Amino acid sequence: MLARKVESVPYLDLKAQMRPLRREIDAAIAHTLDNCSFCLGPDVTKFEQDFARFCDAEHCIGFNSGTSALHIALLLLDIGRDDEVITTPSTFVATSWAISYVGARPVFVDVDDATFNLNAGLVEKAITPRTRGILPVHLYGHPADLDPLLVIARKHRLPLVEDACQAHGARYKGRRVGTFGVMSAFSFYPGKNLGAYGEGGALLTNKAAFAARARSLREHGSRERYYHEEIGFNYRMEGIQGAVLGVKLKHLEQWTAQRRRVAHRYHELLEDTPLQLPREAPGCESAYHLYVVRHPRRDALKQYLEKNKIGCALHYPLPLHLQKCYASLGYKAGDFPVAEKAARECLSLPIYPELTDDQLECVAEVIKEFFATAS
Ligand SMILES: Cc1ncc(COP(=O)(O)O)c(C=O)c1O
Repeated sequence: MLARKVESVPYLDLKAQMRPLRREIDAAIAHTLDNCSFCLGPDVTKFEQDFARFCDAEHCIGFNSGTSALHIALLLLDIGRDDEVITTPSTFVATSWAISYVGARPVFVDVDDATFNLNAGLVEKAITPRTRGILPVHLYGHPADLDPLLVIARKHRLPLVEDACQAHGARYKGRRVGTFGVMSAFSFYPGKNLGAYGEGGALLTNKAAFAARARSLREHGSRERYYHEEIGFNYRMEGIQGAVLGVKLKHLEQWTAQRRRVAHRYHELLEDTPLQLPREAPGCESAYHLYVVRHPRRDALKQYLEKNKIGCALHYPLPLHLQKCYASLGYKAGDFPVAEKAARECLSLPIYPELTDDQLECVAEVIKEFFATAS
């Protein structure tokens, strides 16, 4: 083993992000404690305004999770029983939860080999008279193939909802994701590029009617306290999360730039290895929520990294069409070969704004060592 500048590299280091912000965060939380607005309230409203401006959206509605925001987006489109929604099998399960929660059927379509995002070229074939929407994911922070997807959506008069839960600040043809579809959902789960100190999410839309109904649905279906227009949910964002997110949002642009710098440095360092590296499609600027490499010997590499105290993870080890919870949909192994290969070969390396050059060089060194010694 080579002499190392660093002992270990954690997969994720939330403490490194918190340390320089601690005083600002403490003051923001103290503000919430002083105003005692623990559910929604002024800190959430301010964050909603700021995040809407950041994404250039008309409306942002704060939720208690990205999952809730996605659920409400599909409810607002009146998608329900016997309907179908087209989505990707290579994503976190919450994408398809939203479809299942409204009683509709997720219809999976294979992904593109370069980005792992929904393969727009295969979507049209999956449209049936029951299709009610298209739900692409900006996976790992890389924008979905939006233009062709929007052409198909328009042609078939289908709404497109963006699952932007991993893609805060990612750009497609220069514009931040979140307003390409009729609605979009973001997650502020702590490990996300913009993470709360607990659960959080947001729905963005440019349509005032959707925004008003989303606000009502997240709060027990009421616009006026104790008067319930329809069956609603307790999906409110907490005041403290709004306060924390408000502080962190000011740093997001710089953090995204730092993530992109880490990614480019990984590209340089790993270029000569047998790994397949993530690449940006033309016109796309990834927010690099994850840096996912691929190799057929993924499991051995993962073990080697872990033995050498390098954190790594799998996103995701089993595509959604093969999950037990969706057995009743009738999919089988081999249905989506690209997604299945991705699940077998993907490996997420540490990436966060605070990752130092020494740390990322250490990751690259250990990977090179693996390939040099691997028989
Ligand atoms: C692609 C994707 N969709 C949806 C979600 C759900 O977000 P949350 O965990 O905030 O409910 C996540 C978050 O993990 C995600 O990565």
